[in-house]
Amino acid sequence: MKGRWIKITEAENIPLREGRPVKLGEVEIAIFNLNGRFLTIENACPHKGGPLCDGIVTGSAVVCPLHGRHFDLETGMPVRASEPACLTVFPTRVENGIVMVNIEAGHRAMDSAAA
Ligand code: FES
Repeated sequence: MKGRWIKITEAENIPLREGRPVKLGEVEIAIFNLNGRFLTIENACPHKGGPLCDGIVTGSAVVCPLHGRHFDLETGMPVRASEPACLTVFPTRVENGIVMVNIEAGHRAMDSAAA
């Protein structure tokens, strides 16, 4: 996988079924803890920029706190097919209790589908 892995924080700093925002240069991401599995998406909702880190987690989706759109945390895709925009997702892993994210390897499902 291209890109380098960046150490973000200790896994225990992200509570179960919650998201936390992290700014890395120009990129703001939101890291979610799904029962010990960590998933990372861009933090700004593609609708009007709502902070997805503050959204409610339901199943493997997050609900935008501003207008309630649902996004799948694994794919970045909107849960309702009628909503066109999707989010960039970033590979995430835990190593020795530290959450690590690969920003350069972030991708959008829609871009892969179009390619
Ligand atoms: S800003 Fe997220 S649904 Fe509108």
